[in-house]
Amino acid sequence: MKMKQITVLTIVLVFFLLVLDFSDAWRGNYYTIKRSRWVRKIYCACWYWWWGCSYWRYHWKTEYYNDHFCRPGWTHNGNQNCNIPVCRPYCRNGGTCVNPNVCDCPSWSQGIGCASLTCSYKRPCYPGDCKSGTQCTCEPGFESQSYYDGCIIFNSSHTELRPIVGKSNVTISHIRRTDNRVDFMFILEGLEEKDPGKRDIIWSNQKRFNNLRFEYETLFTPPENLPERPVYVRESKIGIAGSIIEANVSKVPRNGGQIRDEGSFKIYDCKDTSGFSKDNPAEELAICEINDDQFRTLIEHGDW
Ligand SMILES: *[C@@H]1O[C@H](CO)[C@@H](O)[C@H](O)[C@H]1NC(C)=O
Ligand SMILES: *[C@@H]1O[C@H](CO)[C@@H](O)[C@H](O)[C@H]1NC(C)=O
Ligand SMILES: *[C@@H]1O[C@H](CO)[C@@H](O)[C@H](O)[C@H]1NC(C)=O
Repeated sequence: MKMKQITVLTIVLVFFLLVLDFSDAWRGNYYTIKRSRWVRKIYCACWYWWWGCSYWRYHWKTEYYNDHFCRPGWTHNGNQNCNIPVCRPYCRNGGTCVNPNVCDCPSWSQGIGCASLTCSYKRPCYPGDCKSGTQCTCEPGFESQSYYDGCIIFNSSHTELRPIVGKSNVTISHIRRTDNRVDFMFILEGLEEKDPGKRDIIWSNQKRFNNLRFEYETLFTPPENLPERPVYVRESKIGIAGSIIEANVSKVPRNGGQIRDEGSFKIYDCKDTSGFSKDNPAEELAICEINDDQFRTLIEHGDW
């Protein structure tokens, strides 16, 4: 039993020494400097016959030793092998540091530290003009939402790209639930967009409506002469991606212009019925039909 423990201890000791020995081996791009330090040495000033020292003294002594460092631009990961190059600034956008301050950039980035993304599938420039590989200028009427999504949105100051609402109407009706018979209804034609303040007035002796329906067509004229698609853009469509209606029933302001009731305010999104979306925009004509069979607001005299 004792023997075994001693053997284990010996093996551990040997292993420890071996590790120490290996870790001392500096490799790669390193340099060595000689350094000195003061050390206190103890020596025996007086021996007392054979059983030892009777009087110890000490003195200071200069001792020389080697210190190792990685060369500028190189480092090690703790194994004293100075073979890891250091890049400042560090390599971004998929770049790898291959030599001190030398980044190897992938095809989609370039420049110091691979900091500039080139026009590619990672950072599209379409519809637009890509200059010197990295400078993207969007076509007039388009702008980018973020650095990475190309010229994907319309620039709202370019009104020539704004879609026009063509035919439109709204139907407000009362439909009998049991057999879907229309008891009474009104159809209002949409007004010209150039008259936003104008209102249509209708007269009725009914006030219970339970169905609100919007039907409208939106037209979009795609811009002409767009630049050729770069190879990294496989397909492109420009059109209407979404459409909403804001419905507002409110009281006519009375008593000094005060609105008596904010009324019901609802936003209807056409996306469920339209068939067009961000991934599949309507390229010319977008038709929208919104039907609210849960319309509950009681219409009163003088409502807007
Ligand atoms: C939008 O268009 C206007 C007018 O052409 C232009 O001045 C502006 O820079 C454009 N905005 C963007 C973000 O491209
Ligand atoms: C209402 O508008 C839709 C879409 O433009 C159209 O198909 C429908 O015929 C219009 N209805 C009436 C009564 O004008
Ligand atoms: C609803 O219409 C009234 C009258 O035009 C307006 O004062 C009010 O701000 C509108 N409410 C909403 C939420 O748009």
